[in-house]
Amino acid sequence: MPEHFTPRAILVTGGAGFIGSNFVNSFMAGNPGCRLVNLDVLTYAGNLENLKGVENNPSYRFVKGDICDGGLVARLLAEERIDAVVHFAAESHVDRSITGPEIFVRTNVLGTQILLEESRKHWQAKAVPEFRYLQVSTDEVYGSLGDTGFFTEETPLAPNSPYSASKAGADLLVRAYHETYGFPTLNTRCSNNYGPYHFPEKLIPLMIHNIMNKKPLPVYGDGLNVRDWLHVKDHSVAIECVLKKGAPGQVYNIGGNNEWRNIDIVNLVCDLLDAKLGRAPGENRGLITFVKDRPGHDRRYAIDASKMRRELSWEPSYTFERGIAETIDWYLANQEWVGKVTSGAYRDYYDRQYGVKP
Ligand code: NAD
Ligand code: DAU
Repeated sequence: MPEHFTPRAILVTGGAGFIGSNFVNSFMAGNPGCRLVNLDVLTYAGNLENLKGVENNPSYRFVKGDICDGGLVARLLAEERIDAVVHFAAESHVDRSITGPEIFVRTNVLGTQILLEESRKHWQAKAVPEFRYLQVSTDEVYGSLGDTGFFTEETPLAPNSPYSASKAGADLLVRAYHETYGFPTLNTRCSNNYGPYHFPEKLIPLMIHNIMNKKPLPVYGDGLNVRDWLHVKDHSVAIECVLKKGAPGQVYNIGGNNEWRNIDIVNLVCDLLDAKLGRAPGENRGLITFVKDRPGHDRRYAIDASKMRRELSWEPSYTFERGIAETIDWYLANQEWVGKVTSGAYRDYYDRQYGVKP
């Protein structure tokens, strides 16, 4: 399939976070002719350690700043002659949105509106010949499924947590900017990612981290909630594909067709780490502790990604078997990174949640 759009200067927001940094690293490796400006305010989830491989690349520029700062966004768009925005920056953790929703509305809704508005003005001023705005969103905007079925791009939005409501609000603004102004938007909605640089407040890296440190493994409720897991590198490739080949105004679901019950994932990680850490078979499973359920906990997510396959010829390259083994190896080899990101503010948050140190 031919490429429809070749970006020359791209503004990535939230490029120091988990998915953003994986995207920056892979995009810069595959697109040496493209300028990349990374705007990130560096919350607890943003980490420049993730970007060591690109920091000296002359095509790369990091700017520490807030997407809610419209003046800064406008200046960057103009001075770098940006022709594509890929918007990752967000508050991303559901549990945090339950205890403190306000920052989710500020960053995820207001931040998106400011970015959209400054990008629209830049595009309407014809500062560059062609422009794309890509909103990185989530399957959580669709709400929860029963035992069967899949989310398609036509599934109505029915978010259940403050996080997913804020992401749905942002998606609706993206839709409105396309409908109202003809602004060339793209909107991706992806399932749960896993892989390197995943902050250890999320299920898979938290379990790896706690197993290594022989801490309890908190499983919410009955552990039977289902998530569809995709390797973050497959997500990065999918986003690049949508940016270059996607049709403006469209939504694209991205997923791994890889459903797992939480308890099965936790058992798998326990067993793989028994072997890798030289522990007795079954030893790590002894750390599993069922805890109070997450309020409003979505039961099942499953993505129908056939539009990505059919229209853009994208499909995941990782098997889960390979991806999870590599991910565990990455955490074993990068304990210094884990130590850095789990210090300070994160420790305080974790203490309040569980009363134990991570
Ligand atoms: P993350 O929490 O790891 O990273 C978020 C990044 O955004 C951090 O670097 C943070 O510093 C930055 N940021 C936050 N507020 C900002 C602001 N006001 N201005 C500038 N930067 C700011 O998140 P992630 O897991 O990498 O998710 C990235 C995006 O992908 C989010 O929009 C999320 O909703 C979406 N998404 C995530 C998943 C997943 O499984 N993690 C799945 C689907 C979609
Ligand atoms: O589906 C995409 C979404 O995936 C993204 O939009 C979010 O940004 C991302 O954080 C993720 O949300 P989840 O809530 O699905 O991810 P989390 O890792 O927090 O939880 C995965 C599942 O594991 C969920 O059913 C809750 C459960 N869980 C989580 C944690 C942290 C536990 O049982 N114990 C835990 O300690």
